[in-house]
Amino acid sequence: MEQAQTEPKYHFGVVQGFSIMAVVYLVVGALVGVYIAAELAWPWLNFDIPYISFGRLRPLHTNAVIFAFGGCTLFATSYYVVQRTCSVQLWSNKLAWFTFWGWNAIIVGAVITLPLGFTSGKEYAELEWPLDILIAVVWLSYMFNYIMTIGNRKVSHIYVANWFFLAMQVMITFLHVGNSMAIPVSFTQSYSMYAGPQDAMVQWWYGHNAVGFFLTAGFLGIMYYFIPKQAGRPIFSYRLSVLHFWTLIFGYVWLGAHHLQYTALPDWSGTLASAFSLAMIIPSWGGAVNGLMTLSGAWHRLRTDYVLRFLIVSLAFYAMSTFEGPMMSIRTVNALSHYTDWTIGHVHSGALGWVAMVSIGALYYLIPTLFHTKLYSEKLVNVHFWMATVGITFYICAMWVSGIMQAMMWRAYDEYGALVYTFAESVAAMHPYYALRALGGAIFLAGCVLMLYNVIMTIKQAQPEPAEARA
Ligand code: HEM
Ligand code: HEM
Repeated sequence: MEQAQTEPKYHFGVVQGFSIMAVVYLVVGALVGVYIAAELAWPWLNFDIPYISFGRLRPLHTNAVIFAFGGCTLFATSYYVVQRTCSVQLWSNKLAWFTFWGWNAIIVGAVITLPLGFTSGKEYAELEWPLDILIAVVWLSYMFNYIMTIGNRKVSHIYVANWFFLAMQVMITFLHVGNSMAIPVSFTQSYSMYAGPQDAMVQWWYGHNAVGFFLTAGFLGIMYYFIPKQAGRPIFSYRLSVLHFWTLIFGYVWLGAHHLQYTALPDWSGTLASAFSLAMIIPSWGGAVNGLMTLSGAWHRLRTDYVLRFLIVSLAFYAMSTFEGPMMSIRTVNALSHYTDWTIGHVHSGALGWVAMVSIGALYYLIPTLFHTKLYSEKLVNVHFWMATVGITFYICAMWVSGIMQAMMWRAYDEYGALVYTFAESVAAMHPYYALRALGGAIFLAGCVLMLYNVIMTIKQAQPEPAEARA
């Protein structure tokens, strides 16, 4: 009773907003993914309309899944976790709502400009300079609010999930500002301040760390809060989580050049990147083991707790993709994998298997908690779990087979040293795998639609109480 009186009123309205938008953007991003996958299998789906051609929709897909879905999930979970673990409300609710509207405005900007063909041409940083400035303003407001909230905390200790969120906020600020430096020539066009190999190096310093800090560190913050919560047990080893944090943060920033093996970059930079990439297996697996072992003695819960299944399977994919990545960074392996669908398979075992699964688990926990109700249907969560798992498996297996086949066809020589296959033959050989990937994606998408339905029904059945008033 006393506890209830002293508990602060948390600002959960903004968390609700970001959580709902995350589910909506998951459906939209996956839908665009399925469409571009289908375009690769059946190119007539381009319909000769430039706005929906593969080249324009591909960046729309990556922006939608990474920044719209991933970003909203990160905002929602981090605003929730920081209040809960610091026992204090957000420093400024208004500033948090500014980040909500600002972030959504950026997404609308992306949906308009990318299909029109306005792009800076930098992967994962395609948006033009006016939107880049807006991203910087929104992101800095988010970080400022977060740090001030931690400063106001009522408990002396800062829980490790917050460390991961903070590292993401600091690094993404550097990466975004550093990589986006450009000279505008009009409202819709600009030229990068970097040229040649420097441009490539800055781009992949950004590109890899977008994976390392946005798609990994932030989602590890989610893992460290939501797995113990859902499992109802403390994290296996707090000491290991601190070690995980420092080794990951120190190691990740050196990896960018593994995207540029055999290019104009100096050889030593590729070697350095490979060495650090291999070393990254240690923190990554340390983190995965820490999450998995949290369940030791309670594995039976996986039989009935479908939300926990999402969270735990995400760690299996995290471990798998962080083993595969270091292998692919080795020059001889990269000579085979680079430019092939193997990379796409790796990307989606990380992005779908790890990022999407851990997010879905966290959102299934968060949404009923925020609305003070139970999930509308646990059974649908189970159906969603199997659809997601089967869809991802189809996707990544198809890409592994097609990637390795591509590489083998490109490097097959006859006894006279002539190429055995033309490039067009290798493209034709991809067709069944591209169709299988589109099918896997469609199954995954159907699961996400079920999730949206379940979330809408969950919110509908909740009591209409103002979120701000509840703790
Ligand atoms: C239904 C689910 C999805 C489908 C069908 C799908 C499909 C695709 C396709 C066809 C591509 C282009 C591949 C190419 O250029 O050869 C792609 C690229 C990409 N997707 Fe997805 N995707 C899905 C979900 C996701 C999610 C949830 C994420 C992230 C959280 C994601 C992240 C990416 C990234 C980062 C790339 C660029 C890869 C690269 O440049 O190497 N995708 N996706
Ligand atoms: C220790 C961890 C990891 C290492 C060392 C690593 C390493 C690599 C390597 C070597 C490539 C291929 C580069 C190329 O040939 O162009 C790559 C591509 C990629 N990886 Fe990873 N990876 C790791 C984990 C992850 C995770 C967990 C994700 C997703 C959440 C991910 C997302 C990506 C993406 C999006 C690309 C494609 C980038 C592009 O070309 O557009 N990686 N990674």
